[in-house]
Amino acid sequence: MMNIALIAVLGMALSACGGSGGNSASSSSSCVPGSNTKLVRPSGPVHKVAWSQNALDGAWRFAEEASIEAAAKAHGYQLLKTNANNSDVQQVQDIQNLINDHPDVLLVDPHTEDAEAAQVVAARKACIPVVVVDRDVNEQQASPGRDFATFVGGDFKKEGALAADALIEALGGSSAKATIVELDGTTGSSPAILRGGGFNGELAAKAPGIKIVAEQTADFNRATGQQVMATLIQQYPDIKGVFAHNDEMAIGAITALKAAGKHPGQDIKVVSIDGTKDAVNLVVSGEEYAVVECNPRLGSLVFDTLDKFVKGDDLPAWVVQPDRVFKKADGTAAAYLPNAF
Ligand code: AHR
Repeated sequence: MMNIALIAVLGMALSACGGSGGNSASSSSSCVPGSNTKLVRPSGPVHKVAWSQNALDGAWRFAEEASIEAAAKAHGYQLLKTNANNSDVQQVQDIQNLINDHPDVLLVDPHTEDAEAAQVVAARKACIPVVVVDRDVNEQQASPGRDFATFVGGDFKKEGALAADALIEALGGSSAKATIVELDGTTGSSPAILRGGGFNGELAAKAPGIKIVAEQTADFNRATGQQVMATLIQQYPDIKGVFAHNDEMAIGAITALKAAGKHPGQDIKVVSIDGTKDAVNLVVSGEEYAVVECNPRLGSLVFDTLDKFVKGDDLPAWVVQPDRVFKKADGTAAAYLPNAF
């Protein structure tokens, strides 16, 4: 306990000397709520951590939640949890309630980029240190190093590009000519924005003969993915590929394609992102071509990063969780399956 207190005091001294890479910082004890303009650091040992989750609806979110809970417990922290059920209105209210509880640190997994950015700024003004987890906020509105300590999460743009590489390969390579559809995640969320951008950029650069004939949101949801795909396959019966921004939507899409008489894996190639057990099983069985990983087990990385922040270390703007690609052909899907979530 003495050591932690000493480290925290040293951290405060470093902050006072401008020790956070050019960004000045306030420890929450020297911070004046309401008028604070600087990055906030914990003022001492952390006990109470608040966690604002955007939804609990699918294997990815349950795995993330379990990982955050386990890591908080391992570090001996009390965790105050909220679940916004995919509602920005609810998550804005949740974060306000958590700020009012005066946690030592606030962790936010924002539903969309813009809606929760103002709440991250509100936490900074209220002298609550913040770490953004999994999905980012709009960094034009709330920035790392000033409004929050860092963003801990995967590289969504790269995930989109890796998905494009896999679909290009599945459709015959760079010279392939085919039409495909794209099922988007939640509109305005950082994974939907960045995966879409990464995928589209890679496709245009590497296989200009593969054209996206329809792009529609299915909200990262399996049932919605099925409904949207059921309509799209009637409108575009000749498509040869589907890119879904997450596994849940891909699983729904595969169900719809089969109901429409298609044979996913043979006449239509499907690629998605996450690494759920259900989707990787479809890769192993051949109905899905590839799954790009988005690892939801962020807990250790988040709390190890938090420990560094408490010690007074400088943090990068982004702590990246690395991701892999799982396919049937090279055995990576079967090898990963026992660890899938
Ligand atoms: O933010 C990560 C994304 O959110 C996952 O891909 C998805 O399954 C979840 O809804």
